[in-house]
Amino acid sequence: MEQSFVTVNQNIIDMEYAVRGPIPQRAEELKKQGMTIIPCNIGNPQALGQNPITFYRQVLSLVEEPSKIDRERKLNRLLKTNSHASEIFNNIDLISDYVIDLSENIISKIKMGAYSDSAGQLFIREAIAKYIDKRDEVNSGSLNSNPDNIFLTNGASEAVKYIIDMLIAEQNDGIMIPIPQYPLYSATIKKVGGIQVNYYLDEENGWIINKSMLENYLSSAKKAGVNVKAIVVINPGNPTGAIFNEETIMDIIKFAKDNNIAILADEVYQENLYGHKFVSFAKMLGKEDVTLFSIHSISKGFYGECGHRGGYIEVRNPPKVKRTDKNFMDILLKLATVNLCPNTVGQLLTYLMVSPPYEGTGPYRNFIEEKNKILIALQNKAEMIKQAFKQMDSVECFGRTGSLYLFPRLNKLPEGTTDFDYCMKLLENTGLCTVNGGGFGQKEGTNHLRIAFLAPMEVLEKVLPIWVDFHNKLLFMN
Ligand SMILES: Cc1ncc(COP(=O)(O)O)c(C=O)c1O
Repeated sequence: MEQSFVTVNQNIIDMEYAVRGPIPQRAEELKKQGMTIIPCNIGNPQALGQNPITFYRQVLSLVEEPSKIDRERKLNRLLKTNSHASEIFNNIDLISDYVIDLSENIISKIKMGAYSDSAGQLFIREAIAKYIDKRDEVNSGSLNSNPDNIFLTNGASEAVKYIIDMLIAEQNDGIMIPIPQYPLYSATIKKVGGIQVNYYLDEENGWIINKSMLENYLSSAKKAGVNVKAIVVINPGNPTGAIFNEETIMDIIKFAKDNNIAILADEVYQENLYGHKFVSFAKMLGKEDVTLFSIHSISKGFYGECGHRGGYIEVRNPPKVKRTDKNFMDILLKLATVNLCPNTVGQLLTYLMVSPPYEGTGPYRNFIEEKNKILIALQNKAEMIKQAFKQMDSVECFGRTGSLYLFPRLNKLPEGTTDFDYCMKLLENTGLCTVNGGGFGQKEGTNHLRIAFLAPMEVLEKVLPIWVDFHNKLLFMN
């Protein structure tokens, strides 16, 4: 039978997404052949053994299966009144009254199996607005976050796609993205036929950027006929792992204001600061009349609920829309309506992310212990890997450590090879799966790799000396 042919959108054929590209694909093949692979190519905490936060999962289980609520209540009552029963249940983790009450309250507001509002449940959007105000130390007033300008999404990825879909309207519309960048941005811009305008982060100064550098990149783009609509910032960074200082954030805001472009602030790593303080773009924006899209997610932080696909976008100063009397938020809502609604489990986890148990409640102590344990372990693992870089010939790692990644520069490689060849050899020799710098974009002539610092400590303890040895031998022999 003759095979039929179809044409496929060329933009999709041309899209690239290195995080799941040729190196991870080779890792899959090697795994099938029996090799132990350490998947450090992706920020997927629970795939690497991180336990889910008990509080989240307890609420989730009760909300998904309400018949358990009565049972848990009766059990708690029995334990309070019957000393014999409390002896039997001594070492068993019970669900606290606080969790039971909270779950019951949630059930009264959301039907998990039903479509919700396309923007997500209102009580969750209200909780997000409160969380943002608390985080940014905003008291009531005109700077409060507005629940009507918040949309829940299936992960931050969907939020990014919504905004890029909305902004790329004409053939010469472009979006500035950092280089190196998380390839969701380049791929999404490519898919909708927009123009990617690169701005290069200053590696040796800790992966920051300033206004005059941004002006230069913008003016080159304008000369090439590009109409720049927005600038993407990722803070803390992916792949760089670096954390912006307040000066950099202010410079980006001033740049956006002077040039009338929007800011898309990807802040999905806002809990991954390891002792530094998170400063949001919304906080620094204050009263400035600049359009700001801020996105957050349940996938990272200490929660790592990647598979549950939850997140949100908050819009400040929505732009006026040309050639229509419709407003920006209504058009965004229409776009979301086409997807019916974000999944309800993701919405619920987003609610829990922004409404942690407070001091004095049943789950509080355990919640804080689990959170601290995860964040401290991440910090220790990052430090351990950075120490290993110091033992490697010609490897340098810049910037304050945030997010879940390190992005060292490989200053020397065997003649005629690139970071792609290096990462492939590293995988084949040690089982360590990383992503080469080229997958994120980098200054021409430089080589890097990205490693997620999520693998268990005991695995890193074993593999890091092997990597150091591999690296130094590779450079010595060439
Ligand atoms: C910078 C950045 N933005 C967005 C995302 C997507 O997150 P989500 O799982 O919420 O779609 C990721 C995922 O790794 C990321 O690193």
